[in-house]
Amino acid sequence: MKSGLKLIIFTLLTLMVLLSACNSSNEVDGAKGNSKDNGSDGKLVIGFSQVGAESEWRTANTKSIQDAIKNAGHELQFSDAQQRQENQISAIRSFISQGVDAIVFSPVVETGFETVLQEAKDAGIPVFLADRSVDIDDDSLWVTFIGSNFVEEGRNAARWLVDEMSDYDGDVSIVELQGTVGSAPAIDRKKGFEEIIADHPKFKITQSQTGNFTRTEGQEVMESFLRSDGENIDVLYAHNDDMAIGAIQAIEEYGLKPGEDVIVIGVDAVRGAFEAMVEGKMNVTVECNPMFGPQLVDLIEDYFAGKEIPKRVDVEEDVYTMDQAADLIDSREY
Ligand code: AHR
Repeated sequence: MKSGLKLIIFTLLTLMVLLSACNSSNEVDGAKGNSKDNGSDGKLVIGFSQVGAESEWRTANTKSIQDAIKNAGHELQFSDAQQRQENQISAIRSFISQGVDAIVFSPVVETGFETVLQEAKDAGIPVFLADRSVDIDDDSLWVTFIGSNFVEEGRNAARWLVDEMSDYDGDVSIVELQGTVGSAPAIDRKKGFEEIIADHPKFKITQSQTGNFTRTEGQEVMESFLRSDGENIDVLYAHNDDMAIGAIQAIEEYGLKPGEDVIVIGVDAVRGAFEAMVEGKMNVTVECNPMFGPQLVDLIEDYFAGKEIPKRVDVEEDVYTMDQAADLIDSREY
């Protein structure tokens, strides 16, 4: 081959290598979209790794996100982790090897995802955290978080209790049903609640154990709380409504009246909690809104349009009490 031709071929090959390197270093650099080319029709392939199906809340959240992705004309790859971190890591790796355009990820627990999120970043696939966040120093490993302020939910539960029992003189014995160990809502709802009662020494958490956010475990753990100190429990603080509903059954079977003998506080504001409140068996539920699917899809589309998006988006939430329940139950979306 002539040396001139060799030079042209060498130059062309070098250019091709440089171009492909640029393409694969599509940075997932936080709030600024990278306007990745996702085809002329704007249709994206979105992998969604969900926590599981442990609660009424989760079912509503899964549907909200799935419907929003499909209604916007995107393709959904869905994976249910059944509350196991190893399942989520495999699902994310499988999304990466399929070459999805974006990953939506609701982490079972806060820690231990650095490696797999780095793999997604290296592959140029942006990760959107939904509902639960991760405890990782390098926040360039995900684009944005959308969900609730769990610490504030814990504070709201405690504020309601402090106000409700402001005239009560004695010590108040609280049993706590925690969510999944190591998960953001379990850590933060405990933290927020304890922060508020710390200023009111009569409120004491006397027993605290995980019920893994499920009705069955909520009931079982409440049975053991009651067995060990049944007559002295004043308040149940459950990190979600499903555990509160399971515990209500345990309280009734023990021969006490939930909502009267034992004050019952839940989190989520699911329909089941409203039904329990209408029946007078639950006193209050702190809302955790799962219906953010459409907002999440807007964020993903904005990112691919190259728009600036916030690093954190909090959804709006309220607190609902027993005396409001009958009026509101029919208007609840989930
Ligand atoms: O992460 C949100 C929490 O997870 C909800 O409060 C609970 O019901 C769910 O399992």
